[in-house]
Amino acid sequence: MEFPIDRFRELQTPFYYYDTALLGQTLQTAQSLLMPDWHIHYAVKACTNPGVMHRIAEAGLGADCVSGGEIRAALAAGFPSESIVFAGVGKSDWEIELALGSDIFCFNVESIPELEVIQEIAQRMGRTARVAFRINPNVGAHTHENITTGRAENKFGIAMEDMVGVVRLARTMANVECIGLHFHIGSQILDMEDFATLSLRINELQEVLASYGFSFPHVNVGGGLGIDYEHPDLSPIPNFKDYFDTFKRYLRLHKGQQLHFELGRSLVGQCGTLVTKVLYVKQGNARQFVITDAGMTDLIRPALYDAQHKIENLMRQSPLATYDVVGPICESSDVFARDYRMAETRRGDLLALRSSGAYGEIMASQYNCRPLPKGYLTEQL
Ligand code: LLP
Repeated sequence: MEFPIDRFRELQTPFYYYDTALLGQTLQTAQSLLMPDWHIHYAVKACTNPGVMHRIAEAGLGADCVSGGEIRAALAAGFPSESIVFAGVGKSDWEIELALGSDIFCFNVESIPELEVIQEIAQRMGRTARVAFRINPNVGAHTHENITTGRAENKFGIAMEDMVGVVRLARTMANVECIGLHFHIGSQILDMEDFATLSLRINELQEVLASYGFSFPHVNVGGGLGIDYEHPDLSPIPNFKDYFDTFKRYLRLHKGQQLHFELGRSLVGQCGTLVTKVLYVKQGNARQFVITDAGMTDLIRPALYDAQHKIENLMRQSPLATYDVVGPICESSDVFARDYRMAETRRGDLLALRSSGAYGEIMASQYNCRPLPKGYLTEQL
């Protein structure tokens, strides 16, 4: 990736930089591989930078939201309300009211108590809630424990075996219209076998439901396609082809059924970079530390999921040295990388923490009373 380094030098660090050209190419690639009646809803949780969201809305994608705040952000960015799906195990009453009031496309419902509350609120508001059932397919994804969602012991969704009863109940509700089935097995998934397994589970469930006379016009397979954190420049655009081909090959849709995806990371991960300045290079007893002005408050993924983001010194390329790259926060887990080989680094150098577009800026916190870093798109520099 080419960085406008001269402009970077003038900005207050740390900050997030989004490469608009790469974002555009990524969206274009994903969109170009869709079959008719396939739709992508951008998983807003990955990045709510207004400029990034605006580009995605402009490209014609829908939005996948998990809170009232995300619904507001999606509407403000220009996503049409009829493209918004709303998921989450714990929807508050005001969020349900907001979603009904905005006439969003669909609620992804995760439990019977939630369904009952949606019916009650919809009745009070004189509306009909379109709902899809989030089903826990009990498929384990090959990814980090903390971002696996589709196994029986996870809190998400309704068990497959309870589905017939749930559909029967929903059909008795006057203000609820059942329009779909929803699934999501986890995030940062690179093994297409997992999506093949999901597809087969969906086929099984659809067969069972069909034997009871139940079929719905929409199937939503969630998100989860991973990105290459190790080689962001070799694979700047994720493997959408294999991903979509897997569903083409294994998923058997009923006639007229529309297929929905909720992609987050794969759309915005690689276009984003956290740019930070080196404060000190400190020689410890056994190790050498590069201390940056960005910390776990600005990119929590390494601390939370042992994630490794590629780190580049934007000022120099050689000779190489070995460092622990750490932030300034008063926590021992505030470490971006250990024993990391990178160009010999000096105070004042700018470093790029790559692949930070997804779950970077949006997960930032103000811990230690740190101001939230700004985010810039290419054309805003
Ligand atoms: N749909 C549902 C229901 C989800 O729970 C998620 C992500 C997505 C779609 C989008 O998944 P994606 O395409 O981005 O993998 N903070 C973690 C990731 C948490 C993902 C939560 N759910 C991380 O930084 O790795």
